[in-house]
Amino acid sequence: MADKPIVLVTRKLPQAVEDRLRRDYEPRFNDEDRLYSSDELIARAEGADAILACHTEHLSAEVIARLPGSVRAIANFSVGVDHVDLAAAKARGITVTNTPDVLTDATAELTLLLMLGAARRAAEGEQLVRSGRWHSWSPSFMVGIQVTGKRLGIIGMGGVGQVTARRARGFDMSIHYHNRRRLAAEREAGAVFYGSVDELLPHCDFLALHCPATPDTQGLLDARRIALLPNGAIVVNAARGSIVDEAALLDALRSGKLAAAGLDVYNNEPDIDPAFRTLSNTFLLPHIGSATRETRDAMGQRALDNLDAVFAGREPRDRLV
Ligand code: 8YV
Repeated sequence: MADKPIVLVTRKLPQAVEDRLRRDYEPRFNDEDRLYSSDELIARAEGADAILACHTEHLSAEVIARLPGSVRAIANFSVGVDHVDLAAAKARGITVTNTPDVLTDATAELTLLLMLGAARRAAEGEQLVRSGRWHSWSPSFMVGIQVTGKRLGIIGMGGVGQVTARRARGFDMSIHYHNRRRLAAEREAGAVFYGSVDELLPHCDFLALHCPATPDTQGLLDARRIALLPNGAIVVNAARGSIVDEAALLDALRSGKLAAAGLDVYNNEPDIDPAFRTLSNTFLLPHIGSATRETRDAMGQRALDNLDAVFAGREPRDRLV
């Protein structure tokens, strides 16, 4: 039998995924689960046929240009690929894949958590109980905003947006959305479509961001657009920090223009703008949208399905370039 392909695995993956890698490939594991610098990544990729990467690896044009010629594929353990310069990979003939669909439920579920947590002041309440500083109760104590029956605006109505909408209907929310293309009526399921972000914003008591991070969506939610939201709206983000102008978001949270924000993603993770921590109207999670056992297993299996296809000479299901 021919030698097994060598796969550089940049981070620690679920046991079943690592077992499959051991069985079918010659894996180079990162047992310490340490973040590699670009130089380390390039050095460790020497002689490797593929890289199984996460969003924590910055595969810029410069890094891709320096990858050894042996690398034929980059299989991402992520749906978002803003960490990979796809044009640079294409130019070098490197196949790049991602893991769509399998994160949809987990990420939509987390979006609901962000909405509930931000609206019902979950972080403040939890901190009060945990710190032993909860001493009294009154009718005005810890009063938040009700989620049930409100208008949810969604920017980006792909898989995650659609499942978020479906879950939110369980809270009797009406759904309003903007997407590059309007959905077919059966997928829309009564949601109201707006042809632009600006038209959507005045109709959102809650705004959830589910569009990909691209040069077009960089800083999409900026001061001008935040001003278009109703006063006291709540913004949640489980997509990517770069979609939001964080300085503008912080200003709006300080001024009370926005009642609260629920965030799972930020610019410059994990060294986020410390101002987020100082505000009481933020509900902050550490990029755990897809962090369920079921989803992380499925992401790893899907990434390996893609690699299997590449090395069997078949078309990988999730090819991006
Ligand atoms: C993953 C994500 O945890 O898949 C994505 O795009 O943002 C996350 O849910 C992460 O990317 C793993 O690499």
